Amino acid sequence: MKALVLAGGKGTRLRPLTHTSAKQLVPVANKPVLFYGLEAIRAAGITSVGIVVGDTGAEVRDAVGDGSSFGLDVTYIAQHAPLGLAHCVLIAREFLTDAPFVMYLGDNFLVDGIADLVDSFRKADYDAQILLTKVAEPQFYGVAELGPNGEILRLEEKPEHPRSDLAIVGVYTFSPAIHEAVRAITPSARGELEITDAIEWLIARGHRVHSHFVSGYWKDTGRLQDILECNRIVLEMINGAVCGAVDGRSEIAGNVVIEPGASVEGSVIRGPAVTGADARVRNSYIGPYTSIGDSCLVQDSEVEYAIVLKDSTIKGVSRLTYSLIGRNVEVTRAEGIPNTHQLMVGDHSRVQVRA
Ligand code: G1P
Repeated sequence: MKALVLAGGKGTRLRPLTHTSAKQLVPVANKPVLFYGLEAIRAAGITSVGIVVGDTGAEVRDAVGDGSSFGLDVTYIAQHAPLGLAHCVLIAREFLTDAPFVMYLGDNFLVDGIADLVDSFRKADYDAQILLTKVAEPQFYGVAELGPNGEILRLEEKPEHPRSDLAIVGVYTFSPAIHEAVRAITPSARGELEITDAIEWLIARGHRVHSHFVSGYWKDTGRLQDILECNRIVLEMINGAVCGAVDGRSEIAGNVVIEPGASVEGSVIRGPAVTGADARVRNSYIGPYTSIGDSCLVQDSEVEYAIVLKDSTIKGVSRLTYSLIGRNVEVTRAEGIPNTHQLMVGDHSRVQVRA
């Protein structure tokens, strides 16, 4: 079996980070979300992986390389425009040959991995298997309507009026029958070749399409609240390890990872939290569910329930919470009178200040 990982797309809901960076590389507990997916694929016994990349392809290639560090053999497939998930299958035809495959959306996170799904597909004789889970806001996802015996009646992409609360999780398994389907369908109203249309095409022609419920935690990390929650879930599972230097005036409580080269002085860190390599935390409080990236400086500040990417500085700020801070960002205190906020933020940024 092969894997097709989708790491293109625009990531509009995570702007401005995604103006300069791939949404699949936003870190969760200081590791790009895409890496968890690649590890899950390897754990399911698959080594031949095609990664579909778009505008941010160079960055994805830099991060993943030839895949050998994951035990994978990676082939890159360039998609010149985000023309839909089924379009990704279409352009990956040569890589996929006639092998069955799992298609994995690179911004999806499944705590329990995909081994069960891949195993059940290997044993059964399906042409497609989709994963479903109940969600509170189905309008943001592909939605499945099931019949009385669990059969799939209809699949709709981000419907305004969802017919059920069953979202399609971004992991699918296919037999080579899908290739005929992606060639047969036409673009949707939003101009994309939808994988949901291709799956409906299979169903309409009597192919065996099975749905499987996800039991464990799943998140599509495409939005701020989702990536922060995913960070929380992963941090809850970490084992504390202090490899950096912590001075006698500091207090480390709970599961806290302090990477090599990091230093903590006169600070309180309450886990679960991670502090990246060569980061410096001085006279500060780092609260639960916080990931501080490599080489960051946090000084005279309080940070909680946040993700801070590498090389950023937070100085004299209390208290920063529910936040996602990009790379090389400076958040500092505006000194003097009048008491103002001074901002220089990128396009599509979101800043919430206390009234
Ligand atoms: C995609 C799929 C959607 C699915 C979702 C899961 O949407 O089109 O059907 O429910 O992934 O992550 P996207 O998040 O890429 O907009």
